[in-house]
Amino acid sequence: MAARPRQTARRASRTGFGKDLLTVSAIPGQAIARLLESARKLKALRRRGARYQPLAGMTLGLLFEKPSTRTRVSFETGMNQLGGQSLFLSLDNIQLSRGETIADTAAVLSRYLDALVVRTFDQAIVEDWARHATIPVINGLTDLCHPCQALSDLLTIQERKGRLKGVKLAYVGDGNNVANSLIEAAAKTGMVISVGCPGDHRPDQGVLDKAREDAARTGAAIEVTDQPQVAVKDADAVYTDVWVSMGHEREQADLLKALAPYQLNERLMKGAKPDAIVMHCLPAHRGQEITAAVLDGPQSVILDQAENRLHMQKAILVELLSKRGSRAAGR
Ligand code: CP
Ligand code: NVA
Repeated sequence: MAARPRQTARRASRTGFGKDLLTVSAIPGQAIARLLESARKLKALRRRGARYQPLAGMTLGLLFEKPSTRTRVSFETGMNQLGGQSLFLSLDNIQLSRGETIADTAAVLSRYLDALVVRTFDQAIVEDWARHATIPVINGLTDLCHPCQALSDLLTIQERKGRLKGVKLAYVGDGNNVANSLIEAAAKTGMVISVGCPGDHRPDQGVLDKAREDAARTGAAIEVTDQPQVAVKDADAVYTDVWVSMGHEREQADLLKALAPYQLNERLMKGAKPDAIVMHCLPAHRGQEITAAVLDGPQSVILDQAENRLHMQKAILVELLSKRGSRAAGR
């Protein structure tokens, strides 16, 4: 029997997603609300020990050009919990490292896999994967952004503060990929975000411009200041991230010097609300971007953040993959 031609997945999903998840800014606000609701339900199911396996028979590929603990393990276990399986593709062991093109690799992997998580350097690379793959491509971190982290963090903030709209999130430190995605997420959900960073380490200007357009619609407020005390003033949540992101090792000396005044410590935390939560996407460097007392203190929600990667990414997988079940079965 002749095989049915494989359709491309270039269609909007239930909640207005495109085929892929490459940035938070590309996701409609309504879709983010639905993802949060779905993640809460999946978390509750998991807590009850209930089985929910809508992705049985499907395979998620993970292609990582940078190290990872949380993203890899939460996607792999999440896919398994949803009934599917996952396949970690080490760059060293696939033909990409010997010059096979992204276009050919993406087209071939699309014949085996149902979705692909890519962790890489330039945002243009993950966009290239998405363009050439007929399956959903999920951004597992680029130099520009870390959308799965920020979406998961929305869940953590919502759990801890009961809402997102009007909640003030302060981010202090390097205006990096995590900061960029948090800005996009705050803009989409009507939060107040204040970024305290040196003038040479501001978040991406394109991200800020687009986020300000979203903020005009949602009532979000976005501030960038070089004064960390201004950023954290009356904050409900205070966030920091490593000073030397993956791929920036050669700038280490400059970064450590420029970012030293932005350390998240007990003195800086005094400016935030007394019940402010402390956030960090991890891995952390105690004594650099954050002190051990703050990171491991009573206000810290870092383990909730790490756990919520699992629940949010399961919601993302269900969103992107649940309508593909019949195709997978007919392969
Ligand atoms: N926060 C985060 O993405 O961690 P990993 O680099 O361990 O995946
Ligand atoms: N900004 C960090 C995040 C790690 C999860 C990095 O890119 O290395």
